[in-house]
Amino acid sequence: MRLHCADVGRGPVVVLLHGFPFDGRMWEAQHEALAASYRLVIPDLRGFGQSPAPVGDVSAIDAMADDVLETLDALGIAEPVVLGGLSMGGYVALSIAARAPDRLRGLMLIDTKAAGDTADAAAGRRETADKVERIGSTDAVVEGMLGKLFATLTWERRPEVVGQIETMMRQAPPRVVAATLRGLGARPDRTADLAGIAVSTLVVVGDQDAITPPEEARRMVRDLPDARLAEIPDAGHLAPVENPDEVNRVLLDYLATLDQVEG
Ligand code: MLT
Repeated sequence: MRLHCADVGRGPVVVLLHGFPFDGRMWEAQHEALAASYRLVIPDLRGFGQSPAPVGDVSAIDAMADDVLETLDALGIAEPVVLGGLSMGGYVALSIAARAPDRLRGLMLIDTKAAGDTADAAAGRRETADKVERIGSTDAVVEGMLGKLFATLTWERRPEVVGQIETMMRQAPPRVVAATLRGLGARPDRTADLAGIAVSTLVVVGDQDAITPPEEARRMVRDLPDARLAEIPDAGHLAPVENPDEVNRVLLDYLATLDQVEG
């Protein structure tokens, strides 16, 4: 399906994929910094933000990846892109890296991991999905996740950021949240694919990320043939929102290195 996206700036294409259950607005703090030198394409993944909802009760990660490629085609973007994804967006990016490597010239894995769910975690997601659908509200997801999303400093000094993210989570349609939870629980483990990823990869993680912690990021860097790690201070699971200046600096630094290598 073709996705709604923000499309700003000019230059080499950089695509940013949001996490669950957010939408493309979570990348607002990256717009100005990146769009000065790059064409920034920020889709809303299926059912989130302004994109159409999936049909059926499971929204699979590979289907989301196919949507991203279809949307790039529809935008006339045939050249390889730099693809960045946060958490679920990272799972989608890894699906593209494994299944359509020719579309990539770089990869930015942000607050994410390659491992799949344990059987218990997947069962928990299915239960939550059923509850969200039954009650017709995402309250259970918001209440289960919100407390784990941010670093201490974000809670103490940036209540407006917490408020914006909470609002975004509450705006996600319950049916879409349920279908996406089922898709997340069923996603493949991509650990074995990492060794085959040929493009230079930047791995970014908040130093207080409680959902996809720094150990997961270090593990990916060890398994990837060409990767570097940036650990972001005073940031939890939403580093680009919590410490945007530092995240923008490491993204721009990595992008400049790619531009130099390719000359
Ligand atoms: C996300 O931020 O996308 C989620 O935490 C991903 C997940 O639940 O695995």
